[in-house]
Amino acid sequence: TKPAPHVLVLFGATGDLAARKLFPGLYRLALAKRLPDQLAIIGSGRRSPGSDEDFRSHVHQALKEFVGEVDEMVAGPLLERIRFVPSSADDGTALAAAVHDAEDQLALESGQTVGDVQRLLYLSVPPQAVEPMVAMLDREQLNVRSRLVAEKPFGTDLASARELDAVLSEAFDEKQIFRIDHFIGKEAVQNLLALRFANGLFEPAWNRHSIESVQIDVPEKLTVTGRGSFYEGTGCLRDMVTTHLCQLLGFVAMEDPHAFREGAIRAAKAAAFAAVRPLDPERVVFGQYDGYREEPDVDPDSDVETYVAIEAWIDNDRWRGVPFYLRTGKALAAGQRTITIRFIDPRHRWLQAADPGATEPNELVIELSDDPRIEIDVRAKRPGPGMALTDGVFRLHLGGDTPDSSPLEAYERLLLDVMNGDRTLFTSAGEVERLWEICQPVLEHRPAVESYPQGSWGPESALDLPLGGWRLGRNQK
Ligand code: BG6
Repeated sequence: TKPAPHVLVLFGATGDLAARKLFPGLYRLALAKRLPDQLAIIGSGRRSPGSDEDFRSHVHQALKEFVGEVDEMVAGPLLERIRFVPSSADDGTALAAAVHDAEDQLALESGQTVGDVQRLLYLSVPPQAVEPMVAMLDREQLNVRSRLVAEKPFGTDLASARELDAVLSEAFDEKQIFRIDHFIGKEAVQNLLALRFANGLFEPAWNRHSIESVQIDVPEKLTVTGRGSFYEGTGCLRDMVTTHLCQLLGFVAMEDPHAFREGAIRAAKAAAFAAVRPLDPERVVFGQYDGYREEPDVDPDSDVETYVAIEAWIDNDRWRGVPFYLRTGKALAAGQRTITIRFIDPRHRWLQAADPGATEPNELVIELSDDPRIEIDVRAKRPGPGMALTDGVFRLHLGGDTPDSSPLEAYERLLLDVMNGDRTLFTSAGEVERLWEICQPVLEHRPAVESYPQGSWGPESALDLPLGGWRLGRNQK
């Protein structure tokens, strides 16, 4: 069944995220016929892009750029539902009026009452802007009957996240709040739970007795072009690590959640995060790509990090002594999102003697990228005489091959979940605050920022952070 009639208000509607992910996500949901039949989309922000027509052509442009081939029969009707109404933290009157109008219209169209029309407020704005926006929403009573989506990063540190939670809870009931981290919406991330708990094979080995280390590696080729001012205020640690990478760590590390439900998933992740040791700044490398300071809206003396590599430890029975290595950065040699579980080498002497060259231990690789898949590196006997070893790969593709089973892109999945009021894949206040707490030592004692060439694998000093090196790039510079 399709979601109820919706008025979707998108703050930051002319921004990068809206163009790159949100409008394309809405388009693909329309293509898959999953959007509500009665839908109004109001883009909002301080700077008006001009008339509604101008805004629609801006959105149309974004679809062409980020969707690829656009089916005009789908895009046309979607664009007709879109308009732009300026608003700011100081003034939301025009917006409130537009929301009421749209609700009346949708109620008429659907034959339902205004009260049946759901409000979805999506705050795609920098963390510093959230608090004043919430005050405006409260003033205009747009908080009533609404679901609020707050983009990451949620706050900029522990204190500001707490303050934000306090402000939010004045205007919204916790049930109305959806803290989004789109990595959780990725097909392969939820598949981690299926992999671990639906197969008798993995869970018994999913611990320090069998696993040597874990790498969560998200190199990006993208630079920050076009997002200079966001990056100057945020940096890579807040943009990617306290959010996406730590969430991936949570899914790898959590105990059996016992249910795929909001409370269960949140509790399992919270328990894992509670056991993560606050980071040691000595085991964190910050980098900045050459040329970052010349980007538009970037301070020519900026020491904002565009790259982070981290060693983390989880002090519980399952993970004690197993290092987790997290790495991400902009303008790197490759664009990938890869989790590697490296198993302990069984080191059977007789096999080593038979083939001294075979030294790489088993690795389970979860590839979250556009072609999501799971791979396991295994060793086998080389065919023929003797007992020499060879490497092989088991590979499982996770993207479905029928229209019914085709995966939803992360934002599509999560937008749909918001419309259906399902918070299972959204983060809780407690978990976000704990992640800030874990990263707080690094915020307080920032490592010196080392420069790295664009197209490289980041600062050299991070290459040997993991024992045995990084799987991706196999330690090329
Ligand atoms: C966003 C970050 O949340 O995630 C960006 O702000 C980053 O800096 C992006 O590029 C990566 O997302 P994805 O889904 O393309 O891997």
